[in-house]
Amino acid sequence: MTTILGISAFYHDSAAALVVDGDIIAAAQEERFTRKKHDYDFPANAIEYCLSAGGLEPQDLDFVGFYDKPILKFDRLLETYIAYAPAGFRSFLMAMPLWLKQKLHLPREMRKALKGGYRKRFIFPEHHESHAASAFFPSPFEEAAILTLDGVGEWATASYGTGRGNRIELTHEMRFPHSLGLLYTAFTYYCGFRVNSGEYKLMGLAPYGEPTYVDAILKHLLDLKDDGSFRLDMSYFNYCQGLTMTSRKFHRLFGGPPRSPESQLEQRHMDVAASIQKVTEEVMLRAARHLHDVTGMNNLCLAGGVALNCVGNGRILRDGPFENLWIQPAAGDAGGALGVAQLIWYQLLDNPRTPQPDDLQSGSFLGPVYTNDQIIEFLDGVDATYHRYDDDKQLCDYVAGLMAQEKVIGWMQGRMEFGPRALGGRSILGDARSEAMQSVMNLKIKFRESFRPFAPSVLEESVDEYFETRPREQSPYMLLVANVRDDKRTALDGELNGLQGLDKLKACRSEIPAITHVDYSARVQTVDERRHGRYYRLMKAFEKKTGCPVIINTSFNVRGEPIVCSPEHAYRCFLATNMDVLVMENIVLLKQEQSNAEQHEIDEYLATFQLD
Ligand SMILES: [Fe+2]
Repeated sequence: MTTILGISAFYHDSAAALVVDGDIIAAAQEERFTRKKHDYDFPANAIEYCLSAGGLEPQDLDFVGFYDKPILKFDRLLETYIAYAPAGFRSFLMAMPLWLKQKLHLPREMRKALKGGYRKRFIFPEHHESHAASAFFPSPFEEAAILTLDGVGEWATASYGTGRGNRIELTHEMRFPHSLGLLYTAFTYYCGFRVNSGEYKLMGLAPYGEPTYVDAILKHLLDLKDDGSFRLDMSYFNYCQGLTMTSRKFHRLFGGPPRSPESQLEQRHMDVAASIQKVTEEVMLRAARHLHDVTGMNNLCLAGGVALNCVGNGRILRDGPFENLWIQPAAGDAGGALGVAQLIWYQLLDNPRTPQPDDLQSGSFLGPVYTNDQIIEFLDGVDATYHRYDDDKQLCDYVAGLMAQEKVIGWMQGRMEFGPRALGGRSILGDARSEAMQSVMNLKIKFRESFRPFAPSVLEESVDEYFETRPREQSPYMLLVANVRDDKRTALDGELNGLQGLDKLKACRSEIPAITHVDYSARVQTVDERRHGRYYRLMKAFEKKTGCPVIINTSFNVRGEPIVCSPEHAYRCFLATNMDVLVMENIVLLKQEQSNAEQHEIDEYLATFQLD
């Protein structure tokens, strides 16, 4: 037996993954345990969970890999500082303590975290090798082109190459400070969202605007080549030397200073969002076309934070040259933990790899699981009122019926998801046909910005009935956007047609308005019985009752909160919000029956999490 632990840490989204004889046994992000979103501290809890899932102690491990090369990263920090000195002294000084204390002494830190039990060597591949490994090795392909795009690793900000059998080879890279991830993040910052977490909001905002700044971006900010590579004009940016992302010159170009967080969103911000989204898609498409030209392959694998841009991914699949696309669900830095572990097993140890039609990621259900007994023990301890449905069909029928009455359902089943999306393991569910649901979910359940869209889960066999996809197109990881089909759209009368900006939300655009974004797009998750089990059966029951194979699936958390992991997290979130029903395995709780519901104040609960 060969046991391999992969670790990513110290940038954002720390995580651990355990691979035993090539099988992915467990993977989880540290934030789920510490309840600190995007926690970047050393993932002690995630490691402990992975080891316990494998029934292992630190001394049982054969290899431990870290997802990047810290010394090389430090080298980039120093060189960048020197190139811009004396500007940048403050940010340099701020970065130093963590480097001197932990990052430069990783082996020591890791040995300490493994309680002195691990005495073998540590392996440090390059950051983009870890991303690439996480994209290719679990994929269903025998061979594929690989593209990684992110903010920055050591020096590389993008790379490409190929995967064949049990090997990956990266042949080209783009280097810091020229970076698609950092470019997108600069606009995230400029539009008043949080760096390294608000990118999703920027993407969600884009359909409200018009891409009026595309020419300005392409003329001034970047020199984009046919192959998707580019150079940024660094006079518009400040991230090499300052504590902000953008410079005054940037602000002049886009007509004002950065929007302050939580302030009113203006049409200009939406137009800026639409513009950078369009440019990002163009870069992704050009890179994909070039990669197809040089490799002649039919399959493409993607990873790196930019691969969470599901609108861009959808463009690559629908408008790009590749026949098949597989994206690592934990495409951000958390996925590097899995990548390094698999890189060691396949490439370093030269073990054979047998791809499977459904991939090797197990639906990304790689986190902790709780039994009915554990759930009941917890619920009894807090005096909750609950009902147990041992019959699966009865349970699914009952919950589907509640959902059809516009009840909002907290749904916790099986293992927790690895990666940022909730996929039916730790989800909040609702009726996609409801016109009120988009606003109810945003304002009364998740307490987040009203403009943010919700994503659908759809039965895999029905995906092309509702969305412009191929028949039975698989998107189990919710990483691809597709448009709602014409025949499911509602004709808008003249007045509604002319709505601008956030007013676009007022128009009911389709038969499934709660998940139809203002440009008719939807971030689709397909659900099948093999991967999703009871979640699939619940949706089947809902379809039987209502004729609709589509529901809302959003992550089980409130704004700023990491997705829930344990029954305790789920119960607290259920009580604090206006969620109506909580289902954990075979146990159902109704809000109206909970005597201690009013003790929990939402403001107090929200205050325990930092705004994202
Ligand atoms: Fe990365």
